Amino acid sequence: MSAAPLVVLVGPMGVGKSTVGRLLAERLGVGYRDTDDDIVAEQDRSIAEIFVDEGEPAFRAIEKRAVHRALAEHDGILALGGGAILDEDTRALLAGQRVVYLSMDVEEAVKRTGLNAARPLLAVNPRKQWRELMEARRHLYEGIATAVVSTDGRTPEEVTQAALDAL
Ligand code: S3P
Repeated sequence: MSAAPLVVLVGPMGVGKSTVGRLLAERLGVGYRDTDDDIVAEQDRSIAEIFVDEGEPAFRAIEKRAVHRALAEHDGILALGGGAILDEDTRALLAGQRVVYLSMDVEEAVKRTGLNAARPLLAVNPRKQWRELMEARRHLYEGIATAVVSTDGRTPEEVTQAALDAL
């Protein structure tokens, strides 16, 4: 089966891709899929366990396969893990698709995610790590996005409406 997602959601972890993705899918009457969920189901272990067992490069290889499969199979709303856009081939595949970047500023990110052992990239010093992550990734998100929707100070319902307005 070859398909293309109606909308791909990108953005940092904790920005609300899953919540907004589900709401968007409901509003548009289409399916919702999340590549992190695909990875956990395929690997039968958590993302944090994959990071600990095999390290980040191995996780990225697993993620790349999952993302490319979902992009080819899914025709509804597709949420990608926050780091999926680090891969150049993935960014090339996203060109020409409808990609919504859900953004938030660093203080909002720290407030929402805190010190979170389930999120291996933030486990040591969340504020510093957020700053570095966002500096490294913001231009990648912006480079592939066809719409940017800020989530700062907005409820998931408001973000969903803003995303619909931006489509
Ligand atoms: C990551 C984001 C996470 C998950 C992994 C790495 C990242 O996904 O894929 O912990 O590099 O930003 P979410 O954005 O769905 O939390």
